Order: sequence, then structure tokens, then C-alpha cells
Amino acid sequence: MGDDSQAVQQLKMQLRRSQSMAALGELTSTATHEFNNVLMTIINYARLGIRNQDAATRDKALGKILEASERAAKITGTILAQARNRSESLEPTDLGEIVRDTLVLLEREMNKYRINVATEIDPATSKVNASGNQIQRVLLNLLINARQAMPDGGELTVRLRNSEETGFVDLVIRDNGSGIPAETLPRIFDPFFSTKSGPDDSGKGGTGLGLAACKEIVDAHHGKIRVESSVGVGTAFTIRLPQC
Ligand SMILES: Nc1ncnc2c1ncn2[C@@H]1O[C@H](COP(=O)(O)OP(=O)(O)O)[C@@H](O)[C@H]1O
Ligand SMILES: [Mg+2]
Repeated sequence: MGDDSQAVQQLKMQLRRSQSMAALGELTSTATHEFNNVLMTIINYARLGIRNQDAATRDKALGKILEASERAAKITGTILAQARNRSESLEPTDLGEIVRDTLVLLEREMNKYRINVATEIDPATSKVNASGNQIQRVLLNLLINARQAMPDGGELTVRLRNSEETGFVDLVIRDNGSGIPAETLPRIFDPFFSTKSGPDDSGKGGTGLGLAACKEIVDAHHGKIRVESSVGVGTAFTIRLPQC
């Protein structure tokens, strides 16, 4: 009996590690991929500028290089924030900033899959007591899930404002994708539950660990995660976190 419960504890710890690796993996692979794309743009325009002697082409190439470099700086800024500025401990956090940083990383990916992103961030939203790093991982998984639920493109809305429940903030991620059938809805937060056959062509999803990690992180923040979904209409996840 004693051995059994020790084994269970160990497995739980392993599961927790796998969950956080999956969440971190989604972030680093997204950022690396985006950064690489920007580098390709810079390289191609540099080549164009070198090949063409006329001033107009060179100006255009330099303009594109500048634009791409600024984007590259934003992407590394986000990664550095993950590594350094934002700690894993709970502290007063502006979720609007986290939302904006995360969407920078996904801008190109969302364009590629023809997903229109609308943000409604109420500037009067209170700060929450949170780990920015961890909330960014939650957000990234929810945004990528939403994108994957809209294979033919669609509308994604991210809304942030104070909750109707006093003392809380609501972050809502809504898509108009496939929706989730009522019979699978109770299982989506289970570790390893996935309806995907494996990672998609940008290497994301399919582990079934994303929502399990999201739930664990939100629980650790004394928050709540809720889902509303209807097949053929779409899905909305609400994360409710305590104000500080
Ligand atoms: N926005 C969404 N729309 C439709 N289904 C979703 C959405 N988010 C999650 N799901 C369902 O929940 C399952 C579990 O999600 P998750 O834990 O992130 O694992 P994974 O993305 O690796 O499949 C998904 O496989 C999918 O069936
Ligand atoms: Mg996922």
C-alpha cells in the first residue's frame, strides 16, 4: 500500500513535468519558428538589395529589412521576458500586456491560417496576482487550440475585463470553429485526451496535455477555467483570476 501510493505520487510528478514541458514547448517552438521566418525575410531582402544596383530597389529592400528586424526584436523581447523579467511566482500582473506579447508571437501563424484576431482589452481591468510566464503558456495553448479548431479560417476574439464576480478578472478566448460535442466536453481537461491525430503541420498539439496544464496553472492561481461550446458554432474558454 505504502509503495503503491509512493508510485502514484511519482507518476503524478512525472505527469506534471510532462504537462509543463508541453506548455513550454509550444511557446519555444512558436517563437523559434517565427524568428526563423523573420530571418528568412531579412536574408532575402538583403540578397535582393545586393543584386540590384538601382536606388529604388535598394531603398525598398532596406525598408523591408528594417521592418523585419523590428519584428525580430519584438519576438526576442517576448522570449527574454519569459526567461528573465517575469518570474514563476505570483505578483501583480497586467494581463493586457501578456495578451499583446503573446499575440505578437502568433501574428504570422494566424494570418497563414486565415484567422482574424480581435482583441477587446478594457484598459480599466485590474491587475491580477499571477505568474506572467505561466499565464502566457495558458494563453498560447488556448489560442493554438482555437486556431486548430478553425481549419478553414475564422474569427478569434480575446477579451479582457473585470469580472461580474467581484474581485476577479475575466480573460475570454472565443473561436467560431468546430465546437466540442457535449459527450467529450467533460474529458477535455483530462491528461492525454486529444482528438488530434498528432502534431499539425506547424508541429503543435496532439499530446492532449495542453488543457490539463492550463487547468493546473489556473488552479495554482486560485482561479477558475470554464468552457462553453456548441458544435458548428464555436467555443469560448474563460479564465477567471483573482485581482490583487
Ligand atoms: N477551441 C477548441 N475548439 C474545439 N475543440 C477544442 C478546443 N480546445 C480544445 N479542444 C478539444 O480538447 C482536446 C484537448 O486539448 P489539449 O489538452 O490542448 O490537447 P491537444 O491540443 O494536444 O489535443 C483537443 O484535442 C480538442 O478535441
Ligand atoms: Mg492543445
